[in-house]
Amino acid sequence: MSGRYAEVYNRSLDDPEGFWGEAARAIDWIRPWDHVLDDSRAPLFRWFAGGQLNTCWNALDRHVAAGRGEQVALIHDRPITNTVVTYTYRELLDLTARFAGLLAAQGVGKGDRVILYMPMVAEAVVAMLACARLGAIHSVVFGGFAARELATRLDDAKPKVVVSASCGIEGARVIPYKPLLDSAIDQAAHKPTCCIILQRPQEQAPLKPGRDIDWTEAETATPHDCVPVAATDPLYILYTSGTTGQPKGVVRDNGGHAVALKWTMEHFYGLKPGEVFWAASDVGWVVGHSYIVYGPLLHGATTVLYEGKPVGTPDASVYWRVISQHKVAMLFTAPTALRAIKREDPEGLLLKGYDLSHFRQLYLAGERSDSDTLRWAEAHLKVPVIDNWWQTETGWPVAGNPVGLGLMPVKHGSVTRPLPGWDVRVLDGQGHEVPAGTLGAVTIRLPLPPGALPTLWNAEERFIRSYLSEYPGFYQTSDAGYVDEDGYLFIMARTDDIINVAGHRLSTGAMEEVLAGHPDVAECAVIGVHDALKGQLPLGFLVLKAGVTRGHETIVAEVVQRVREVIGPVAAFRQALVVERLPKTRSGKILRATMQKIADQEAWAMPATIDDPAVLEEIGAALTTAGFGRKTIWNQ
Ligand code: COA
Ligand code: AMP
Repeated sequence: MSGRYAEVYNRSLDDPEGFWGEAARAIDWIRPWDHVLDDSRAPLFRWFAGGQLNTCWNALDRHVAAGRGEQVALIHDRPITNTVVTYTYRELLDLTARFAGLLAAQGVGKGDRVILYMPMVAEAVVAMLACARLGAIHSVVFGGFAARELATRLDDAKPKVVVSASCGIEGARVIPYKPLLDSAIDQAAHKPTCCIILQRPQEQAPLKPGRDIDWTEAETATPHDCVPVAATDPLYILYTSGTTGQPKGVVRDNGGHAVALKWTMEHFYGLKPGEVFWAASDVGWVVGHSYIVYGPLLHGATTVLYEGKPVGTPDASVYWRVISQHKVAMLFTAPTALRAIKREDPEGLLLKGYDLSHFRQLYLAGERSDSDTLRWAEAHLKVPVIDNWWQTETGWPVAGNPVGLGLMPVKHGSVTRPLPGWDVRVLDGQGHEVPAGTLGAVTIRLPLPPGALPTLWNAEERFIRSYLSEYPGFYQTSDAGYVDEDGYLFIMARTDDIINVAGHRLSTGAMEEVLAGHPDVAECAVIGVHDALKGQLPLGFLVLKAGVTRGHETIVAEVVQRVREVIGPVAAFRQALVVERLPKTRSGKILRATMQKIADQEAWAMPATIDDPAVLEEIGAALTTAGFGRKTIWNQ
């Protein structure tokens, strides 16, 4: 094997304390840790227990103190209004310290929660870092979620303050945020004491006297210093889809997170401080947290915050324009974004004329990379295209091709090998490791490395039940896959009801809860069907209550609207079929996996436990009538 991978990987597992203790030297500590790894509550582990630091200090102040004050820290590129605004480390520090002052004046202190419901603006980054500066815990909620989802998070996180904006810019559309925020607060039992609203020129939001204040008040606030926090104190909560409508509040701590992310910038990406890194994601997702905000800034790099789409803002050349204009060294995006570009510019003609000489690597994650897309990107960009696999829970890539340790040969379809710190094992149903090439449950032997979730917010029991119980001693990823003879990992599918729509993680269980709430629906199921652009799309099946005579089209339109209102447009739920019955096992479990295989025209076997085989035939016929399961549709 080329490079230092094998040596570094083995060391990380043989001597995790030595390995991560050394990595931690790249971070400024206020007080050193007592233990690199505290295993006194195994299977719950804590990294750098007893240590104190401040994440914002490490992301901003230390770079200014070290002479990077005039280097650009953040480039905000908004193609739709043709604007680029840059912020140096000194400017970002000043804005952050003042905003921390404003938050503190509203009573926010160490351990308090602050929800951020923000579009892709520099102020979102400022607000995250300001919370970190105070030791407050931020929880960013993605803008594509509806008011009800925001309300659920308000009730779980119980924030003192909410930071939001008057609107987001989605492609060419202006989406008002404030009505969603007001509605969420009305629906939630927990009420924040204050909302700080960024008024954007595209939309002025009315402020509620006594509760809402204008972001501009930060301009006159007293700058606030960094507050020391324990390495094990939470930095943020990021809610992600679980198997029910109740999202999981993934907790990230301060110490392990800073150490791990800083380590990845050098050893996984091979990025140098001062270079430009672009994660074309959203601050509402884990990729945004780790690689728009914290990773690049902890490393003293320049990060690009892009408020646009891969196509249509204005066209499919925009990624190449951004890379060339800002001298981007590395781009991180989802395969779906490349598929969108490829669809509009299959020959890559729009690349011509752009100077991509600074561009060294493309990273793809969030969903399985199909080999067509990989090949297209390799052929046109002529740089390594690195598929990497991770989850909101893990915080940073579990597997990938580590440029910083020496690139390994690429195998399309594989996410290469586990990265240092991650002891990936593929297990069968009994918890035994399977032979090379055999599909099984992808798990990670405990302890997980620094930066992975230590628990779920206010739900330790759910954390243990969801992730640590099925395979004692291992973390269950809920992904299925296999390792080949060369140790390369292949991630094939989720084993639960999570689907991946345009790189967005969604729970079909949550959608079923919404569908089941419709007064005419007796029973329902939602599956993810293959989509050439978005990877998967949700498809609903509705069994109506006896005696319902209203038109099916009306009912379908109503459930579509309902999902949009309850979960949000990001669910991309647009299609549902009305059927007579749902296929079930004799014990009453709906056979969703088989339905999905039929819809996607995959090989499927009649489940031995099926109650009535005729129902699957009915479902197949309904899918065919609706145009699903026909190759001609999917190949278009
Ligand atoms: N705020 C408000 N609404 C949002 C939103 C946000 N931040 N993000 C998405 N939405 C809305 C969209 O406007 C759309 O609404 P519509 O139904 O009214 O048209 C809906 O949610 C679905 O959005 P999306 O899935 O993004 O579809 P799209 O057709 O607008 O764009 C792609 C398709 C492929 C261009 C787009 O999904 C994309 O760029 N994907 C990259 C994925 C990514 O970055 N993932 C992050 C993980 S790395
Ligand atoms: P999220 O928590 O939103 O990051 O989604 C995590 C899930 O996305 C994983 O559990 C996988 O199912 C899927 N995923 C992420 N990256 C990849 C990848 N490179 N290949 C295959 N699936 C991926």
